[in-house]
Amino acid sequence: MTRRVLLLPLLTPLAGCVDIQSPLAPGGDQATALLRLLILMLVVCGAVYLLVLAGLGWSLFRRERPTGNATPSPAIDQRLEKGAWVAAGIILVGLTVLIFGTFVADRSLFSTRGQRALEVRVTGHQWWWRIQYRDPASGRWIETANELHLPAGRTTRVTLASADVIHSFWVPTMAGKLDMIPGRRNVLDLTPRAIGWFRGQCAEFCGAQHAHMAFDVKVETPAEFTAWLSAQAQPATASPDAMAARGATVFAGPCGACHVVRGTAANGRAGPDLTHIASRRSIAAGTLPMARGNLQGWIAQPQAVKPGTSMPTVPLTPANANAVARYLASLT
Ligand code: CUA
Repeated sequence: MTRRVLLLPLLTPLAGCVDIQSPLAPGGDQATALLRLLILMLVVCGAVYLLVLAGLGWSLFRRERPTGNATPSPAIDQRLEKGAWVAAGIILVGLTVLIFGTFVADRSLFSTRGQRALEVRVTGHQWWWRIQYRDPASGRWIETANELHLPAGRTTRVTLASADVIHSFWVPTMAGKLDMIPGRRNVLDLTPRAIGWFRGQCAEFCGAQHAHMAFDVKVETPAEFTAWLSAQAQPATASPDAMAARGATVFAGPCGACHVVRGTAANGRAGPDLTHIASRRSIAAGTLPMARGNLQGWIAQPQAVKPGTSMPTVPLTPANANAVARYLASLT
C-alpha cells in the first residue's frame, strides 16, 4: 500500500496520456492490430538485445587463459565459427517473425476494404476539421465540424483531404496516423469496438495553431449513431428566446459570410458549419469546452484564444456578442 502511494506522483504525469488518446489503450480493430505488432517487435528486439548482452558477458568472463602462445587454438576458432552460425540463425528467425507479423498486421488494416462501409470525408483546414457523412438512407452528404461520431462494431471509411497545407489525421485509440495532402485523397478504415469519448489530434506540424487542431471522437451504438446523424441532417431550429433571435439577426450579417447555419441566410463556406454547434463537446477544434461563456469569449477575442486563426475579430458591441453567443448556444 505504502509503495503504491509512493508511486502515485510518478504516475500522475502519465494519467493525461491514457485512455482517450493512447495507442496503448486500443478501442478498435486497427489500433489493436498495431499494438500487437508493437508488442511483437518489442519482444523480438528485446530478446535479441538480451542475447547480445549475454554473449558479450560470456565472452568477457569465459575467455581462455593466456598461455603465451600468440596464435589462437583451433578449439577457439571452432567455437567462434559455431557462435557466428548461431547468431546468424537467430537474426534470420527474428527477421522472419517480424516480416510475418508486419504482413499480418498490414493485411488486417485492409481486411474490411471490400465491405460496405459508412463513408465519411474529413478535410483538414488551418486549424479545424470539416467532416461530412454520407447518409446511408438518402445518399446525400451531411456536414459538421470538429467532432467525429462513429458507430461501434461497423467499419467507417474515412477519406482524408486537405484544403491548404499538409495535416495528419490521428485518432490513436482507433488507428495509425495518415497524412492529409493537398490534391490527394487518402483512405483510412476505422472499426471501433469501445463505446465512449476519444480524442483525435493533427499529427503533422501545419502552422502556429497545429497544437490546437484537435477533435472529439464519439463511438456510440449504431442506433444512437443513426439518431445523431438524422438530427444533424435537420436544419437549425429557431430558439424562442428573444436574445437568441437578436443574435441570429446579428450573426446573419458578418458571421454568415464564413459560416453555414442550414435553414438560415448564413451560407459561408470558409469556416466550420455551425448548424448544430451546441450539440458538440468543444469549440475552436478542441480548444475550449462547449459553454456559452466560452462561445462569447471566442467570438469577442478569437486571436487571443487561438493566435493566427483565420477567424477575424468582428467588431461587435458586448450586447451583440452576448446575443450571438446565446444564439449559437441554442443551436443544438
Ligand atoms: Cu493540422 Cu497540424
